[in-house]
Amino acid sequence: MLQRPRRNRSSAVIRSMVEETRLSVKDMLFPLFVMEGKNVSTEIKSMPGIYRYSTDLLLKEIESCVNLGIQSFALFPQVAESKKDSMATESYKKGSLYLESIYEVSKRFPEISLLTDVAMDPYSSDGHDGIVQGGQILNDETLPVLAKMAIAQAQAGSKLIGPSDMMDGRIGYLRESLDDAGFSHVGIMAYTAKYASAFYGPFRDALESAPKFGDKKTYQMNPANRREALIELELDESEGADFLMVKPALAYLDIIALLRENSHLPIAAYNVSGEYAMVKAAAQQGWIDGEKAMLECLLSIKRAGAQVILTYFAKEFAQLKIS
Ligand code: PBG
Repeated sequence: MLQRPRRNRSSAVIRSMVEETRLSVKDMLFPLFVMEGKNVSTEIKSMPGIYRYSTDLLLKEIESCVNLGIQSFALFPQVAESKKDSMATESYKKGSLYLESIYEVSKRFPEISLLTDVAMDPYSSDGHDGIVQGGQILNDETLPVLAKMAIAQAQAGSKLIGPSDMMDGRIGYLRESLDDAGFSHVGIMAYTAKYASAFYGPFRDALESAPKFGDKKTYQMNPANRREALIELELDESEGADFLMVKPALAYLDIIALLRENSHLPIAAYNVSGEYAMVKAAAQQGWIDGEKAMLECLLSIKRAGAQVILTYFAKEFAQLKIS
């Protein structure tokens, strides 16, 4: 035998020397949830270890993450049911919870990267990402609402917006609206290939944002489709996206690799709430080693080609102080 692959696996040092993929805290982007109130936090039942925080506690949480080396965050608001309406007007209202907390976070931590969310669902009385009329999700009518939201977030200090809604043409529409409003420096992380997935369940618990009727299949992609991700890629690139994202991550590693091979833009992947919950639940039962499973999941996402990993594991990973 000329080739004996086991030689390169024979000691920890050799294994480390030939390691092709290495995780770093710099790969991680930590999604956080903000809620109304002062000095309050509540754990999300279906996401053990993940909390909604009032803005004051959110600032403390970010500080402790920054001390662990985390540099990038995403923020989602839990909006009171009484503030939701069919046009998501709360999403661009001055002084709203979300805009205020973007302002506070950006002021206090000017050096971090904060991805702010653009989609109607947290504020929509219908629980959909676009305007609903007669059971349909309107596309072109939704774009101006998204633009108002994006501009309001940029005014509050956002430097990076994440349109998570999947309306057609929204990247170009948002790019132009931001530019016209004087925010050409604000970047766009496009949810490029976002699939209609069962793995978003715990997130919808966190925001109480589940659709009030139907599902999201007329705008989010069919999990059966791969080539269609390339159509979305071409559109988002040509419309001015700065990052392309695949979501969810673990059941879509082939899509991450596909986007990596077909674009020069940085690729992000969203290791979503249900993927987090599965690992946590099995670990709590003692059925798997939670820490090892976490590391293997994150590694697989990076190995597939993601440069940025949005993950609820970010803090737990950072606490391991892997170098
Ligand atoms: C909706 C949105 C969703 C997530 C982020 N933004 C869920 C959905 O499409 O219903 C899910 C994230 C997660 O599950 O962690 N705009």
